[in-house]
Amino acid sequence: MRTVTLPDGTQVPALGQGTWHMGERSSAAKTEVAALKLGIELGVTLIDTAEMYGNGGAEELVAEASAGQRDKLFIVSKVYPHNASRSGVVAACERSLKRLRTDRIDLYLLHWKGSHPLSETVEGFEALRAKGMIRYWGVSNFDTRDMQGLSRLPEGPDCATNQVLYHIGSRGIEYDLLPWCAEHKMPVMAYSPVGQGGSLLRSKALVAVAKRHNATPGQIAIAWTMRHANVISIPKASDPAHVRQNAAAGGISLTAEDLAEIDAAHPPPRSKQSLDIS
Ligand SMILES: NC(=O)c1ccc[n+]([C@@H]2O[C@H](COP(=O)([O-])OP(=O)(O)OC[C@H]3O[C@@H](n4cnc5c(N)ncnc54)[C@H](OP(=O)(O)O)[C@@H]3O)[C@@H](O)[C@H]2O)c1
Repeated sequence: MRTVTLPDGTQVPALGQGTWHMGERSSAAKTEVAALKLGIELGVTLIDTAEMYGNGGAEELVAEASAGQRDKLFIVSKVYPHNASRSGVVAACERSLKRLRTDRIDLYLLHWKGSHPLSETVEGFEALRAKGMIRYWGVSNFDTRDMQGLSRLPEGPDCATNQVLYHIGSRGIEYDLLPWCAEHKMPVMAYSPVGQGGSLLRSKALVAVAKRHNATPGQIAIAWTMRHANVISIPKASDPAHVRQNAAAGGISLTAEDLAEIDAAHPPPRSKQSLDIS
């Protein structure tokens, strides 16, 4: 499995498994746990979840899937902005740890900016880190200006990642946010890399490139996000066929011809675009 480097030099997997919409229906729980376990078996050991997903239900499924193999996983979870006061972050993390049935979260993110001062949220994160309840902290859905503000806080440079929407159909971050993060040696986590399995996967360019690689459009979409050395891609899949495809996508290298064909159909940004969130 390819890795990316956190600001402190630690290597983490460049491919993970998302869990949004998991843990919402008890009838789907067995399939969802099986999908996560299959992904882990195939070497996709970074799992992205959040207290929001399934109202805590996704974290509980992650606990089930990770039973007996916690040490080989890198678990990412997120705190709701309305819980992100200094003490609220600590209390929310304690609840997540209980649901995840673990003693630490590897990477804990502020899900999006809210009304609590960021300095307080960061103090909460640092308190959790000091107690060993989280290993790293970061943010999500932060645009470049937000990252600049964060980096000016005393502990701001400790931010380990920014998780944002990134796929072939939404490339705005390439203009300024991706370069900013690269300059600060901070990986970006790309969410919705297969465009939530929607019309993006019918893109003619994607289909043509997929054919050349004997792959599926979803695999090419994932490989495309992973072409940057500092991007972690976190597709979500409950269907075991998707899980297998996604796990194999990490091994696909796109050629200059592939990239040019994708660029022609889905051009990179030429000016600042505000951050996409859906
Ligand atoms: N920080 C944030 O604000 C934020 C926002 C959105 C998402 N996220 C995180 O990022 C993860 C991924 O994003 P996402 O769930 O929005 O979208 P996504 O991963 O782009 O798409 C998931 C959808 O695509 C389908 N799919 C997966 N692999 C496929 C493939 N190879 N071919 C065709 N279809 C495929 C899945 O179907 P099946 O499930 O049936 O396999 C599912 O319906 C989330 O699960 C979550 O962990 C974070």
